[in-house]
Amino acid sequence: MKVMIVGSGGREHTLAWKISQSPLVGDIVFVPGNGGMEQMGECVKAGVSDPAAVADIAAERGVDLTVVGPEAPLVSGIVDEFESRNLKVFGPSGSAARLEGSKGFAKTLFERYGIPTGRALQFDNYDEAKAHVLSIPAPLVVKADGLAAGKGVIIAPDTQAALDALKQCMVDEVFGDAGCRVLVEEFMEGPEVSILSLSDGKDVAHMVPSQDHKRAYDNDEGPNTGGMGAYSPVPLLDPGTEDHIHSIAMKATVDAMAAEGIPYRGVLYGGLMLTDSGPKVLEFNVRFGDPETQVVLPRLESDLVPGLLATIDGTVGSLEMEWTPDYCVCVVIASGGYPGSYTTGFPITGLKAASSDPKVEVFHAGTRLEDGKVVTAGGRVLNVVALGSDFAEARGLAYQAVEMISFEGMHYRTDIGHRAMA
Ligand code: GLY
Repeated sequence: MKVMIVGSGGREHTLAWKISQSPLVGDIVFVPGNGGMEQMGECVKAGVSDPAAVADIAAERGVDLTVVGPEAPLVSGIVDEFESRNLKVFGPSGSAARLEGSKGFAKTLFERYGIPTGRALQFDNYDEAKAHVLSIPAPLVVKADGLAAGKGVIIAPDTQAALDALKQCMVDEVFGDAGCRVLVEEFMEGPEVSILSLSDGKDVAHMVPSQDHKRAYDNDEGPNTGGMGAYSPVPLLDPGTEDHIHSIAMKATVDAMAAEGIPYRGVLYGGLMLTDSGPKVLEFNVRFGDPETQVVLPRLESDLVPGLLATIDGTVGSLEMEWTPDYCVCVVIASGGYPGSYTTGFPITGLKAASSDPKVEVFHAGTRLEDGKVVTAGGRVLNVVALGSDFAEARGLAYQAVEMISFEGMHYRTDIGHRAMA
């Protein structure tokens, strides 16, 4: 089977690594890929925002299965385009992808079907949003309705910060159309957990839980990022609570979408907060998490490809996935300055030595090949991933490998997995 992977980050490189181990798979083509994927197969340097152009690439190359990594093409309807041309594709339709593409759509669905989540009101009118913010106590959370490259959720510690966030979204339009509608949501506290589940629109197969580290610096300080590291399993999530989340959040959402006539097929990513009053959904994403994928897929002992196909064929109910009890830790190495501005094009050394231990993988995120050499090309540059029979081993191996890698200005957190170690 020829597989095409759409995307260019660490998540896609990890998917490629896992998919390439499948006896069902021959060649893999990437659109557009990165420096890691360039070493695995053809990378077609095209944009991913035009669904028809990506479908043309799949059709021209006789691709049997396309796996879409990032949310933007899913929300733009890439799956609908592929299906209209009888091209097999993994992921939700554009309508189903509104679960991530519109926070208002998701919140309305949660409220209608009793899926536990933070209380929120939605506003299209700036003056009404302002009046509401002035009438309730802070802290609170302001969310842009649409896709905002991970920057559309603003935690406002006081009323002025909330008013500033509203102005940014609705008046200054820093997120474009995505911020014309906002949600003003209650502030909740507690540890977060990410659950990835495969669904065919009816049945759901859950993957092992993980937790990422969103802040840039140690001790969860500094600005929010796409994720500076992750680990799995999550010791603070007891099996009873995990089962409860599967039922009241993951399966409940798939059932709710089916009841709305919008079957959800693909991978559903639930971001939940474990609050004093039980687990609550913070968000759903319609794709694999990044960097959660980097710690979940190394723990999957069975083949991923039958799971991807089962979401398309409607056979998730009989899907078996086997997991290693081993622990997995991922440390993200970022460019100096990330998530603010940063410079790219720096040569990276030590990659071979870092991945010489069979328990260590180095997945590429923001890299590219220049004259056959790997150079930096993005904010999050590399994901160093290690398995171990306990957390200490996985963490120790990951950091040992990180220290072998070098590029100008590189930055990483030194405390990934600290909550699990505690
Ligand atoms: N790790 C956060 C995300 O994938 O959205």
